[in-house]
Amino acid sequence: MQTRVIQLDRERPDSSAIVEAADVLRRGGLVAFATETVYGLGAIATEPRAVRRIFEAKGRPSFNPLIVHVDGMDRARECSLGWDELASELATRFWPGPLSLILPRSRRIPDEVTAGRPTVAVRMPATPVALALIGQLGAPLAAPSANRSNRISPTRAEHVLADLDHRVDLILDTGPTSLGLESTVLDLTTVPPRILRPGPLMAPEIEAAIRGLRLAEGPSRQGHEGTFPDATAPAASPGMLPVHYAPTTPAYRIGPGDDPHGIVWPDRSALLIVGELAGVRWPREVPRIVLAEPTVAARELYATLHDLDARGLQAIFVAMPPLGLEWAAIRDRLHRATRPLVEQLPLDVEE
Ligand code: TXA
Ligand code: MG
Repeated sequence: MQTRVIQLDRERPDSSAIVEAADVLRRGGLVAFATETVYGLGAIATEPRAVRRIFEAKGRPSFNPLIVHVDGMDRARECSLGWDELASELATRFWPGPLSLILPRSRRIPDEVTAGRPTVAVRMPATPVALALIGQLGAPLAAPSANRSNRISPTRAEHVLADLDHRVDLILDTGPTSLGLESTVLDLTTVPPRILRPGPLMAPEIEAAIRGLRLAEGPSRQGHEGTFPDATAPAASPGMLPVHYAPTTPAYRIGPGDDPHGIVWPDRSALLIVGELAGVRWPREVPRIVLAEPTVAARELYATLHDLDARGLQAIFVAMPPLGLEWAAIRDRLHRATRPLVEQLPLDVEE
């Protein structure tokens, strides 16, 4: 399969390209497009054959369900059962935006999308290109992040092409995404609702938006080191496997409890400092990248990891961010992308 890339204006995507992309999807093809979080790999959610192609293209395990992208509350209602007052309030407040809601699924959504589960994740993305595409189709789009399974999520069209060339029919390139981390996944099928995947939207913001709403306490909102990888999420959200979003270069995390002086730095290493690990004297000869501020770090994290991964390094070291809630989603992703420093045995890094 040839993969085509069409460059489009991010604010006003050319409508003839949208028509073309919708045709590709109607014929059962796959189209990658930008959301405000990461690029998604889309297929029509109501077409089981097309949805199966997503799993093949990504090498994704069939037990991991997909998020269904809609262009408004009406379409979300068609995909789910029991769309209630709370769902309406959340959608009114946060859609379009980085919030995926888990609800019981309707008959329109096939097993292929939900991995046989009785629930479905729905979200309304914020980019004009995604909304135009769904509107043109008049159908919801199933779309996971447009990367091979267990690889780093794509925040630019180049990342999609590097990972999925010949596996996706069309890539709509509207440039870098604005938020850079995948949506917050909120399970509305439990009382109280629970965040299954931390993301750009945090628990206090969600609670503050709805009077009287208290979310279930989960490791993802406590935000302290010892609770990662997430102890409760895997059962509820099968995508939250401990190793995920990982570069192919061995990557090691340096947490507050680690002694950076014990590190064996191979000749070709790089250091990524996320937040600021105060008081540490890092070796001067090791190239370093600093992402000091949470919003910028979220936006740049995956592109930075993609770049580091392409440098042919022996090891990437990541100085972990501090413990504040504003770093929780980034900490979660970094925990999945790296191994603990204690695993850095000389055997691992010598060639
Ligand atoms: O920001 C995003 O959410 C991006 C863009 C493309 O929208 N999409 C994304 O999709 O990150 P994906 O497939 O990489 O991650 C979807 C997550 C997985 O952790 C999956 O297990 C969870 O959502 N999920 C989907 N449906 C679910 C369900 N019915 N119950 C529980 N978890 C579900
Ligand atoms: Mg993903």
